[in-house]
Amino acid sequence: MWNKQYSGTFITLEGGEGSGKTTQIPHLARFLRSAGYSVVVTKEPGGTRPGKSMRSILLKNTTDPIDPKCELFLFLADRAQHIAEVVNPALEAGKIVISDRHADATVAYQAFGRQRDLTFIANLNRFATSELKPALTFLLDQPPEVGLARCRNRASMNRLDREELAFHKRVRAGYRKIARSEPDRIRIVNANQSPEKVEAAIRRHAERFIEKRLG
Ligand code: TMP
Repeated sequence: MWNKQYSGTFITLEGGEGSGKTTQIPHLARFLRSAGYSVVVTKEPGGTRPGKSMRSILLKNTTDPIDPKCELFLFLADRAQHIAEVVNPALEAGKIVISDRHADATVAYQAFGRQRDLTFIANLNRFATSELKPALTFLLDQPPEVGLARCRNRASMNRLDREELAFHKRVRAGYRKIARSEPDRIRIVNANQSPEKVEAAIRRHAERFIEKRLG
């Protein structure tokens, strides 16, 4: 859904572990700012102060088990707070909001990854987001083996990074399925190439999006 009720624009980046979102988001923000837009960069989970506490519970690398329902509701709770506190006010102020992950992640990870009811989770997402949807989403897509190898070189592996490969394969398949079902909103970008090429692909599409949608 185009954010009709707001003058701002909501953009999200999604992808599996180690897909390069964190590298690409500052480039996209810089590009949009140089085009004259006011940009807010944020993330889920952890884009608010309560969200940071939830992020710590969700991703801290401990052996304490977290029930899948508890995990799901914490991601949704983080999202509801994030939209109320950060995203909606920025959109109302006419800004471009770029979020590192949003509702598609819950469908990919908690529905496809954890093999839970897709329709039920999509409905919970709608409730948590009050039906707000990004106008544009970049899906940074690559085989999970590639992204996980990148993560393993990092000091800070999180709880979900440590899931088995089959889980990450389901997450990727889930993301691709969501993208195929919403081709107008979601742009798949091949993340298995140099960061410069990924940046160029994102920028090309952002330029077209600006021309077409923002004028
Ligand atoms: P990241 O900040 O490196 O993207 O880590 C966030 C982790 O949380 C990542 O493993 C994906 C996961 N996640 C979910 O499982 N469900 C969600 O709804 C969101 C937003 C993230």
